[in-house]
Amino acid sequence: MPNDVTPQSTSILSRRTLLKTAATATATMAATRLGFPSIVQGAAPITLPALPWADSALEPHISARTIGFHYGKHHKGYVDKLNELVAGTPLADTPLDGIVKATAGDAAKAAVFNNSAQIWNHTFYWNSLRPKGGGRPAGDFAATLEASFGSYDAFKKELGDAALGQFGSGWAWLVSSGGKLRVVKTPNAETPLTQNGVTPLLTLDVWEHAYYLDYQNRRKDYIAAVIDNLLNWDFAARNLAQAAKS
Ligand code: FE2
Repeated sequence: MPNDVTPQSTSILSRRTLLKTAATATATMAATRLGFPSIVQGAAPITLPALPWADSALEPHISARTIGFHYGKHHKGYVDKLNELVAGTPLADTPLDGIVKATAGDAAKAAVFNNSAQIWNHTFYWNSLRPKGGGRPAGDFAATLEASFGSYDAFKKELGDAALGQFGSGWAWLVSSGGKLRVVKTPNAETPLTQNGVTPLLTLDVWEHAYYLDYQNRRKDYIAAVIDNLLNWDFAARNLAQAAKS
């Protein structure tokens, strides 16, 4: 936090206002750079972004207990570990997306990549979900989806197959690439963020920790519940609009 903008004599209220203003400015810059309005992450120390909804908001499809472990233990764990790994290195002053891109494919920096990418992926995942979401999107986005996949049902099958077919841990994504929407899957912490010309629009976490408490081994049921009830089409549309501008 930039203490140099805060004189000692400033009242606590003013100090809070100044700090909040500085944080907001930093956040806005970061959001603009990332192109994802809901994802705000500046340079280290990397912080755990707040969830965009209450931890029980996705029930009955994803329980507060799952969110409690997934966000409070797993996502937080990646944040704590990354800060430990980059402390005292040049990456300590690099924004999160920069760390992910700088370490992708570098075996010597696999731990930093894995933890930073998992932070980014999870923040993107929380924003990909919303209460009373999912199902067929409305408006222009529906037309874009149908132009790429033929129909909503074809898209739904492709995303579901990718999420179910990802062997072991990983992610299924809706991305924009070459003027079309596509479904891709990535193993472990891998992310389309590192691929040139590819813009992530939505993601689905298929690590077991995302569903095991609620669905045990029934990954297929978790996937169907998310696609039918939780996908945040507004987030996807904002990401697509942002991609079109850049
Ligand atoms: Fe996860």
